[in-house]
Amino acid sequence: MTAAKATTKKASEKPAKSANTNNNLIQFSTKVLDPVKHATQCLVVGCYEGIKLSASASAVNAADAQQVEALLKREGFQGKTGQSLLLLNPQGIAAERLLVLGVGTPKDGNISADNFRKAIQKISEALRPTPCTEITLALAEISVADQSVEWQARQVAESLSLLDYRADKLKSKPADISLKLKKVIFGATKAQATGATKGLLLGQAIAKGVNLARELGDLPGNICTPTYLANEAKRLAHKQAKLSVNVLEEKQMKELGMGSLLSVAAGSDQPAKLIVLEYKGGTKKQAPIALVGKGITFDTGGISLKPGAGMDEMKYDMCGAASVLGTIQTLLELQLPINVVGVIAASENMPNGSATKPGDIVTSMSGQTIEILNTDAEGRLVLCDALTYTERFKPKAVVDIATLTGACVIALGNHATGLFSNNDELAKALLKAGDEAADRAWHMPLWDDYQKQLDSNFADMANIGGREAGSVTAACFLSRFAKKFPWAHLDIAGTAWRSGGAKGATGRPVSMLVQYLLNQV
Ligand code: BES
Ligand code: MN
Ligand code: ZN
Repeated sequence: MTAAKATTKKASEKPAKSANTNNNLIQFSTKVLDPVKHATQCLVVGCYEGIKLSASASAVNAADAQQVEALLKREGFQGKTGQSLLLLNPQGIAAERLLVLGVGTPKDGNISADNFRKAIQKISEALRPTPCTEITLALAEISVADQSVEWQARQVAESLSLLDYRADKLKSKPADISLKLKKVIFGATKAQATGATKGLLLGQAIAKGVNLARELGDLPGNICTPTYLANEAKRLAHKQAKLSVNVLEEKQMKELGMGSLLSVAAGSDQPAKLIVLEYKGGTKKQAPIALVGKGITFDTGGISLKPGAGMDEMKYDMCGAASVLGTIQTLLELQLPINVVGVIAASENMPNGSATKPGDIVTSMSGQTIEILNTDAEGRLVLCDALTYTERFKPKAVVDIATLTGACVIALGNHATGLFSNNDELAKALLKAGDEAADRAWHMPLWDDYQKQLDSNFADMANIGGREAGSVTAACFLSRFAKKFPWAHLDIAGTAWRSGGAKGATGRPVSMLVQYLLNQV
């Protein structure tokens, strides 16, 4: 690095205003209540398909001279999942409003987990136009297949807490669309109360992590730089006994031999950072689980420049890093008794005069040499050194999270995260966690057959493997740096954010990762 460049780099290190202004606005509690006599601004009850009222809905209907049922019929409400009807000023009950949620057709008395989730997502939509600041849910009586009331409460808290997030903070006049909701009472029987309270806390903690990941993802590249991410990690660790943060600068990375990671940062005025977080909730001798995040705060493609259209979305190229920070945020909330290491490889991918050129050959920290045929395949170049660095923690498992390939979006769309692993047990555990958290992944192949696509005449490997199976060859590349531990790679290129009118970060796969860690406790 030249002196001139060092000055530029230093000057452009922006002071960081914390992104995390989520302030947990909603207060959740559990209560044993009578749906008829309970005074609330809005009582939420369920209704099965064919207007089969739930117990609470039925009680309310009886108190209101069957008017609830009559109104549902008149409005064409059938009770299908996703239908909802807000009734104002119901008579004979203490609630000011009644929100009826369709929950679909039960099978053997239970509705599916999916239907329950879809139903509760309607709550926020239905409440938006109302001035409600407090609501009461009588939903614990709707039994959900294979799920407990704790799970139901968790879904409610997770779903409603996501409303604490807004994407328009950088507008000079943010729209007044914020939910006014401050208080949510989850109705439950005495026997259900303990589980419900636990579920509410868990759901809220997960949402806090998800919201942090969304917030960081949505921030533009001129604010959310590698330095910003490093400061965000330090902020997380502030006054937290279980969490320590160490940020490695380019000089230290050079000493460690991270030629691959640094080759990506070469073309940028912003200094790269390797952000290392150690969460110690478990015992000293417990091997940690490591989460390794791709933190490209903007990916122009470098000298292999990307086309202009939609390039703004490459600010999301640090969503893997954001999911590591979000997951650790949730661990802190829950104070989980587990050891977790987070390693974030943060850099921009820019094309200035010192940038890496196609054909350049670099030496990674592992000693393996790489011919960089395309500077836009930079995620693997930063991750490989981060993976090698992670060896020092003797982790029992390593999961990297990366917006790695457009090919993964073509393969799986935006529904499933691509999962690749050198260890079937780890793969199964992550798939299961994804199912449980409704944040699913799909197992992709990592067969040796694909490895030869990375052959290079001049170095140990090339950094691209041709057009075919692009997400698989990217994973194959990473696998060469993950030989010393059980490892899984999550390609979140399709799932980390949405494009189009609803453009915004999703916070995925924080829920999956938290669920995986919860399952390890
Ligand atoms: N960050 C991109 C991957 C990406 C592209 C994610 C579009 C989401 C949407 C990554 O760094 C990249 O550019 N990958 C290249 C690899 C190729 C050059 C082998 C890609 O996918 O085109
Ligand atoms: Mn790229
Ligand atoms: Zn990228």
